[in-house]
Amino acid sequence: MMNNSPLQLIKHSAFVQQKLMVYIKRDDLLHPIISGNKWRKLKYNLIHAKKNNKTNILSFGGAYSNHIHALAFACYQQGLASIGIIRGEPHYANNFTLSWAQHWGIKLVFVDRKTYKKRHHPDYLQQLQIQFPNSFIVPEGGSNTLALRGMSEVIDELNQQLEFDSLLCPVGSGGTLAGLVLGDAEQHNIIGVGVLKQGADNQDYLKNEVKALLPNRAKNYKNWHIENEMHRGGYAKFSVLDEKRILDFSNTTNIPFEPVYSGKMLLALLDLVEQGYFPAGHKIVMLHTGGLQGLGGLAERKLINAQQWHIPQQVPRT
Ligand SMILES: Cc1ncc(COP(=O)(O)O)c(C=O)c1O
Repeated sequence: MMNNSPLQLIKHSAFVQQKLMVYIKRDDLLHPIISGNKWRKLKYNLIHAKKNNKTNILSFGGAYSNHIHALAFACYQQGLASIGIIRGEPHYANNFTLSWAQHWGIKLVFVDRKTYKKRHHPDYLQQLQIQFPNSFIVPEGGSNTLALRGMSEVIDELNQQLEFDSLLCPVGSGGTLAGLVLGDAEQHNIIGVGVLKQGADNQDYLKNEVKALLPNRAKNYKNWHIENEMHRGGYAKFSVLDEKRILDFSNTTNIPFEPVYSGKMLLALLDLVEQGYFPAGHKIVMLHTGGLQGLGGLAERKLINAQQWHIPQQVPRT
């Protein structure tokens, strides 16, 4: 496990033309499996669970969840048992993401959409607590107060690495952005890129999710916003042109992206740069949140061409 992730200057004509300095914080390199925001968000959750003598971590996710994949490996490494409540049918157990998660020992429980919707309800959580005693329950995407602490450490590292103006990250459940906003304490301009259509349908949806995670002292920070119109059709949706733009950028810079989170952040940045959003001389940092394992599931479903993308190798159990 790498302690601090490297910060890399990106050489690309799109940025040179606009006289911008664009950097990428390579959290995807933190660890081959528990990479990106997953490691940051899980770190204090695992410490807390162990300190409180919990033997299991239980959490929630979709059938291709980066969070469930990382949770399984992190718990395996830390000697904790893991349980994943998965939205969907049991046949998903054989897909790329979940077969690896099971390889690292996670117990999967498949639930229908109606049941999955109850994932934040206290009564349902209490029922799960009884069904799986001695579990520490972590919400979907790992987004809770403990996750914010881990995410905010990105800002501490960045402040040691560079003086910069703007920071970009993708937004799904909101914990990543909330942690950055909290740690930043109004030093920089922070831009979240919404990857869900829900964010465009209801402009306050993602903002409210982020605010709900922030402690009172940070709820009125004004230095951040979410770009809601750059989701490219909805969660895990993207066009052939989007795919091509991401791949071209990856091939030019040698930086791996995937089209669900980091790729959408990249496309948003390229579009904002083209629109002249950033003044000349501006220093911008993209946070690479990892999630490259997701390419395995996209290739399996033939949503991408496997030969063109770098699908990461998985690490066997022993
Ligand atoms: C790779 C990756 N990047 C970004 C995000 C978005 O983070 P958050 O859910 O904290 O908004 C997620 C997932 O949730 C993710 O898996």
